[in-house]
Amino acid sequence: MAVPPRITLLAMLGVGLGIAYMSRRKRPKRPLLNKDTQICISLAKRPSNIGTRFHNYLYEELGIDFIYKACTTSDIKAAIGGVRALGLRGCSVSMPFKEAVIALVDEMDASALAIQSVNTIVNTGGTLRAYNTDYGAIVALIASHGLRSSESVAIRGSGGMAKAVGAAFRDAGFMKGTVIARNTTSGPALAAELGYVWTASVDGIAAEILVNVTPIGMAGSPEESEIAFRDDAIERARVIFDVVAFPSETPLVRRARAFGKALVTGAEVIALQAAKQFELYTGVQPTKEQVLRASVFSRSCP
Ligand SMILES: *[C@@H]1O[C@H](CO)[C@@H](O)[C@H](O)[C@H]1NC(C)=O
Repeated sequence: MAVPPRITLLAMLGVGLGIAYMSRRKRPKRPLLNKDTQICISLAKRPSNIGTRFHNYLYEELGIDFIYKACTTSDIKAAIGGVRALGLRGCSVSMPFKEAVIALVDEMDASALAIQSVNTIVNTGGTLRAYNTDYGAIVALIASHGLRSSESVAIRGSGGMAKAVGAAFRDAGFMKGTVIARNTTSGPALAAELGYVWTASVDGIAAEILVNVTPIGMAGSPEESEIAFRDDAIERARVIFDVVAFPSETPLVRRARAFGKALVTGAEVIALQAAKQFELYTGVQPTKEQVLRASVFSRSCP
């Protein structure tokens, strides 16, 4: 039976479109796990899925022979020993290990040295070099959001991340700063280091930029439904900056939105710092669009 020429043409067109569609979707394929696959891990007291999803998404998209897995440990010294002994390529470091790992690495990059806080360790042939990619991410966000160094800034927190945030503001020229921290050792010490004022309480805080660098509002923390600043302080401020990345809409972010305030979110911080880590581990620089896609993907699941 003869097939009418119009049908043949349509069929050929269909096949052609199918092939075009499939090749458009073709990307470099990540090799199956093998003995040479490079391994990166993260160490945190409360691991989240964000880093694991961000890095593995980009390995997949770029066809890079790496895997990344979030871990926790009750023995940070042994864990870093494991990174060294097993030849793991990279190790991201979160609360509360950012300072403890300093004594366990071989070299400190200027970004980690300046603030004595580490969030990234790169293992090159058995030499462990420590970096802090949070610092650079905060510096970039201060600039891209148009925060002005003439404005006053109040930073809540005094841990490793607060050090990175404080140093970024100080180095961007912010002179009028307050560190709010209950801890009577680390609070005054950080304030003194930055040339800022220390206070133990959030009562009566008045600053144009409010920055939360505590776990307040973080999913899974005991204070997950709390807000780091009081309403009167939020109302008086121009910009609210929450470093907490999960959930991306923290109670503080929602409150600031309700007051119509300018916002900088932890989701932005985590995407920028993770992109820098990715580069340090793999030597590959993802595009802005790839970082954005990985970031959205990384936060799309708890
Ligand atoms: C306060 O900070 C110091 C120095 O960082 C730390 O050793 C101590 O455990 C902290 N205290 C509390 C109650 O968190």
